[in-house]
Amino acid sequence: AAVRHHTFVVEEVPYTRLCSTKNIMAINGKFPGETLYVNKGDTLIVDVVNKSPHNLTIHWHGVNQPRNPWSDGPEYITQCPIQPGAKFSQKVIFSTEEGTLWWHAHSEWTRATVYGAIVIYPKKGDTYPFPKPHADVPIIFGEWWKQDIFQLYENLLQSGGDPNASDAITINGQPGDRFNCSAHDMFKLVVKQGKTYLLRLINAAMQDILFFSVANHNLTVVGTDGTYVKPFESDYITISPGQTIDVLLHANQPNNNYYMATKFYTSARGAVNANTSTALLHYSAADNTTTNLSLPSLPATNDTTASVNFTARLRSLADKKHPVNVPKNPTTNLYFTISMNTLPCPAGRSCVGPNGSRLASSINNVSFVANTSLDVLAAYYNMIEGAYGDDFPRKPPVTYNFTGTNIPAEYRVPATGNEVVVLEYNSSVELVFQGTSLLGGVDHPMHLHGTNFYVVGWGFGNFDKVNDPKSYNLVDPPFQNTIAVPINGWVAVRFRAKNPGVWFMHCHLERHALWGMDMTFIVKNGRGENATMLPPPPDMPPC
Ligand code: C2O
Ligand code: CU
Repeated sequence: AAVRHHTFVVEEVPYTRLCSTKNIMAINGKFPGETLYVNKGDTLIVDVVNKSPHNLTIHWHGVNQPRNPWSDGPEYITQCPIQPGAKFSQKVIFSTEEGTLWWHAHSEWTRATVYGAIVIYPKKGDTYPFPKPHADVPIIFGEWWKQDIFQLYENLLQSGGDPNASDAITINGQPGDRFNCSAHDMFKLVVKQGKTYLLRLINAAMQDILFFSVANHNLTVVGTDGTYVKPFESDYITISPGQTIDVLLHANQPNNNYYMATKFYTSARGAVNANTSTALLHYSAADNTTTNLSLPSLPATNDTTASVNFTARLRSLADKKHPVNVPKNPTTNLYFTISMNTLPCPAGRSCVGPNGSRLASSINNVSFVANTSLDVLAAYYNMIEGAYGDDFPRKPPVTYNFTGTNIPAEYRVPATGNEVVVLEYNSSVELVFQGTSLLGGVDHPMHLHGTNFYVVGWGFGNFDKVNDPKSYNLVDPPFQNTIAVPINGWVAVRFRAKNPGVWFMHCHLERHALWGMDMTFIVKNGRGENATMLPPPPDMPPC
């Protein structure tokens, strides 16, 4: 396996979108940031140099980083931010991942503009489990606010309310020609009739699960989250923030121009910008007239059935070369409620949440608050007490009808804290996420760092611990790092805790993560060098 070097210079640069110009944080001046190409099993050394006026960290989303939490990136969990003028050399260790992942900033809301794709090819000499495509094309969805992101973030902290909706979903950084001033801000993919293209779709949006489809073309889904899936055809896809989906596009239509389009799916948000964002699929032998193109049909914005039906079709390949290793009898059983809540408005502010509260969110009724003076990993490694607690509840503190209407008062206001769950090395874990109807409920794309998990079951309503496990898929469950827990529903995942380190888990909707829907796992060292965390690099950023 190769070791490749990159330099990421973080700078503020002006970009113009939707009729206005603002400074954004970007890596090497590019928005979206550059695509990193590796072969399975390679290692990247990325020197991150912060020449911007803001703190920042970089996370390699979905890269398991065996024994190496040091370069994982979530601020105040595995490192302190890289301050203006500072640098940090990060080691990104690829192991079992193959397909598409991505990198993004993991500090406050800097990931709004600081993100890029990671393409992981098979090992040299190895092949895809499908015919080799003519070309592969990263397509990364994002969100653009005309407002300054730091301002948006500050306002949100002050008001304790919902963030302003973004002004547009973007496709490779561009909203497409259906927005004002955007006729030329449209990503264009040129294809040759008769060829097949591998579209590597990445949802880097801050706040939205998305639908995507291509006019007149079916898509063949072949991968998700750095793994392959059993191929299936669909005329649209659902993709959660954090998730990647690989699809084959067969350019088998008449030589012409076609829209690719995306818009968000939401089960709960009210006043949001429902404009459809577009990119152009241009057959090389077609002319350049793009007037009167018709949009592909996308499910309705509130179509929960369409959202979950797509996700439920994902299945691991589960063949000799891509075996499935689902823990059969998990010994660690965790049951986490994920809720929207309110907390009292901090003194000196006037909050716009219900009854003057601020909006919050929680896992097992603990709303996460970072310790900004010492990160969890440093505290754990150096055995410094008091920086975090290790009694995160493994079950909800009370039980009731979580998806019903009579929520007990004691469950509406969460505790706050920075508590971790400690897992023994190699323990087999089942984790059930239970959505709740507090504040109405909403879908939550939950993301785990450090390992993928098998998604073995899901449903609406309350998880039934006697009957639901009977219908688990233990044969070919998809192996994901992000799974959307449907509104007022549940998802069960299983994994083996064999990556020693400190690993964050959170909702990948940025507002929910900010409000406290986050927690941390510590996986203890096992016996022997291969089961022990690597030593810290010499240049860990100080707090
Ligand atoms: Cu995509 Cu904690 O991150
Ligand atoms: Cu959420």
